Amino acid sequence: MRSRFMTGTAPMSTTAFTAEFRQAAVADENNGAGTGSDVRRDVRLEITGGQPLAGELRVSGAKNSALVLMAASLLSRDTLRLRNVPPLTDITAMGEILAALGVRVTRNGETLDLDGESITQVAPPYELVNTLRASFFCIGPLLARMGTAQVPLPGGCQIGSRPVVEHVKGLKALGATVTIEHGVVTASLSGRARRLTGGHIHLDCPSVGATETLMMAAALADGETVIDNAALEPEVVDLAGLLTAMGARISGAGTPTIVIAGVERLHGADYAVIPDRIEAGTLLLAAAITRSSLRVGPIIPEHLGAVLTKLEDAGCRLRHDGGAIEISTDQVRALDLRTMPFPGFPTDLQAPFMSLLATASGTSLVVETIFENRLQHVAELQRMGAAIRLQGNTACIEGVPRLSGAPVQGTDLRASAAMVLAGLAAEGITQVRGLEFLDRGYAGLEHKLTAVGARIRRLSDPA
Ligand code: EPZ
Repeated sequence: MRSRFMTGTAPMSTTAFTAEFRQAAVADENNGAGTGSDVRRDVRLEITGGQPLAGELRVSGAKNSALVLMAASLLSRDTLRLRNVPPLTDITAMGEILAALGVRVTRNGETLDLDGESITQVAPPYELVNTLRASFFCIGPLLARMGTAQVPLPGGCQIGSRPVVEHVKGLKALGATVTIEHGVVTASLSGRARRLTGGHIHLDCPSVGATETLMMAAALADGETVIDNAALEPEVVDLAGLLTAMGARISGAGTPTIVIAGVERLHGADYAVIPDRIEAGTLLLAAAITRSSLRVGPIIPEHLGAVLTKLEDAGCRLRHDGGAIEISTDQVRALDLRTMPFPGFPTDLQAPFMSLLATASGTSLVVETIFENRLQHVAELQRMGAAIRLQGNTACIEGVPRLSGAPVQGTDLRASAAMVLAGLAAEGITQVRGLEFLDRGYAGLEHKLTAVGARIRRLSDPA
């Protein structure tokens, strides 16, 4: 299928486009994806631990913002320009999904132009949706723009069941008829309605995805929508910023109550994605776990408040310096942490932070309250000599003086990053597999770390 996902002015094939996002191409090629080859490859990062790090690390644009901002391109006939878009496989996948719906997607470096003038489909192809949970972000804007949408249920993943009950409940509150049959969610305007109608939605849980889906749907609804118990995450605020730049009338983003006054049309915009707070936290943890000093940026401190506090509680010294943070660490102390919705400690940094605690002096308790199956990295850390006991959603971590290198498997995006961090600190060689997860959320992590002194090689052999 010739993709309409283009670079520059000439249409490019999917493979050629993927090659443009070098990181993604490397991942796809190594995993035998996109090459038509059915030879599986053993792709892994080989890390020689114990290297001190020094220098500066750049934080890319936020994956969890860029994905939903890309979906917002479905809301307008004008072109949406997004800057600071990270070169990730998830971004590639979302671009392919939007292109399949009729959006003309053109990439120049980390800038995406998304032209939603003619939407030709209201059902993203299953084979594309199946690779990317964030594809469900299309249902709200497609319904609002086209009056109907058919999007496969995103289904569960490694970390949990990932329901979309709140998304469906909210769309119904906006006047949509929603059915779920054979794994496909079909949402349509009811009766002779020409638009969705504003309504009052109370979310049972502050779901990030549901909040974002309903903001996009309500932006073009007739009348006012109130979303109560909305998620407070910075990515929600970033979406509100984009929609406002497109002409939407939104207030309260970043608070539990968001009010959207629907408008008839939205126009294009030129908008920069916020820095990735989760990648920033991961890079700060790379300094802490190797007892090094690094400068990491750009960082918006308010996006990482709970994490910065925990790093200081653990003994790290942080200095804010013009949009970046300088971190230095000698000793690391044990501490307790519990994942919570923003502004609490983010679940996406639970695994990376646990790698640090595995090397701290003392006993730490980590409680995962957001996802039901997000402690699989514990078994992999134990293979590296970490002393961790699991009890339900709680891990008790007895810090050890030194982890030992071992072959380990990343079981989801953030667990893979946690294994890389552990490998940086471990004695000897660590081989991290599961790079298909890592490459979804970290743009060239091994390149960034190698540039500040880490010894990491990406290897790929026929399995
Ligand atoms: C977003 O997922 C992020 N993904 C996740 O990042 C992040 O971990 C999560 O928010 C929490 O911060 C993107 O933004 C693309 P939720 P989302 O709906 O929207 C329950 C990463 O590693 N829930 O806020 O799917 C749900 O089961 C990824 O970058 C319901 O019960 O998260 C979970 O326990 C992983 N019913 C909790 O809420 C619903 O209808 C949080 O889910 C919806 C959700």
